[in-house]
Amino acid sequence: VTWKPAAQVPGCDLRVKHLTQQKEVLLDSFLFKVSRPRLVQVSHHVENGPAGFPGLFIVLLLEQFKVETRTIAVDFGKTDIYRKIEAGLTGLEIGVLVNNVGVSYPYPEYYLHIPDLEHFITNTINVNMTSVCQMTRLVLPRMVDRSKGVILNISSASGMYPVPLLTVYSATKAFVDFFSRGLQEEYRRQGIIIQSVLPFFVVTKMTRIRKPTLDKPTPERYVAAELNTVGLQSQTNGYFPHAIMGWVTTRLVPSSIVIFLGARMNRLQRTGYLQRRKLREQKNGASLKNE
Ligand SMILES: NC(=O)c1ccc[n+]([C@@H]2O[C@H](COP(=O)([O-])OP(=O)(O)OC[C@H]3O[C@@H](n4cnc5c(N)ncnc54)[C@H](OP(=O)(O)O)[C@@H]3O)[C@@H](O)[C@H]2O)c1
Repeated sequence: VTWKPAAQVPGCDLRVKHLTQQKEVLLDSFLFKVSRPRLVQVSHHVENGPAGFPGLFIVLLLEQFKVETRTIAVDFGKTDIYRKIEAGLTGLEIGVLVNNVGVSYPYPEYYLHIPDLEHFITNTINVNMTSVCQMTRLVLPRMVDRSKGVILNISSASGMYPVPLLTVYSATKAFVDFFSRGLQEEYRRQGIIIQSVLPFFVVTKMTRIRKPTLDKPTPERYVAAELNTVGLQSQTNGYFPHAIMGWVTTRLVPSSIVIFLGARMNRLQRTGYLQRRKLREQKNGASLKNE
C-alpha cells in the first residue's frame, strides 16, 4: 500500500487519504471511488471551494470531477441500519474503512445525573461500539478474500484508562481499543491492517475547543500525522505530542493518580458548565420577564 497526501474536506470532518490508482475509501457513510489525479482536483476544490458541505450528504460533483460518491444516510444510534448499509455497499471493493463515528457527553457528569440516561446509554453504546463491530462485519470478509485492506478504528486516549465523569464514553473507547488490537492479531497474517487510534484532544465539534495549540491540533494536522503511522503501529496516539502524553500517563504516572486528576479536571469542567448554564437560564428568564 502506497499512501499519498491526504485530501481534506472542511466542514464535515472527512479525510481521505488515497492509495494508488482506482480504489474505494469508506469513511463512516461516505464512499469515494476516485483515481489519483482526480483526487488531487477534488482535494483542491474542497480546500479552496465553498465551505460547509452538509455532513451526511456530500455530493462531490460527478460531472465536474468524475468522482463517484455514494452516500448512505443512517443513524448509528440505531441497530436496524446494517441491512441498509450492506445493500448500499453491494458491488464495491472497500480498501479502507474508517470507523470514526462517535459521541461523547454533552458535559462531564456523574453517571446517575446524565440527562436522559436511558437513551444516552443505548445511543453511546450503539454509536461508539456496535457501529465498529457491525461495519467491520460487513467490510472485512471481502478484504480477507483479497488479502488486503485497512481498518482504522478511532478510539480515544480516554480509552487508555478510566476517565471519571466521562465514564461511559471512556469505557466504550476502551472497548474499541481492545476490539481493534484483538482483531489485528486475528487477521494480521491475512494481510489486513487494523489500527486502534487513541487521540487526546483535537479541535472538533465534539470538544468545542476553538483555538488549536501544539497539544490540541486541528483535525487536519492530527490526521496528517496519524496517517503516517498506518502499517507501522497497530495501536497509536497518532500525533507526536499525544504520544508523549500517552507515554507519561500510562508509563510514568501511576494509573490511580491519572484517574484522580482526570476526575478533578472533569469536576471543574462540570462546575463551569453548570454555572454558565444557570447564568444563561437566568438571563433568558429575565429577558422573558421584561418582554
Ligand atoms: N475530538 C477529540 O478530541 C477526540 C479525541 C479522541 C477521540 N475522538 C474520537 O474521534 C471520532 C471523531 O470525533 P470528532 O472529534 O471529529 O467529533 P465530531 O465532530 O462530533 O464527529 C463525530 C461524527 O460522528 C457523527 N455521528 C455522531 N452520532 C451519529 C449518529 N447517531 N449517526 C450518524 N453519525 C453520527 C457526527 O455526525 P454529525 O456531524 O452529523 O453530527 C460526526 O460526523 C469520535 O469517534 C471521537 O470519539 C475525538
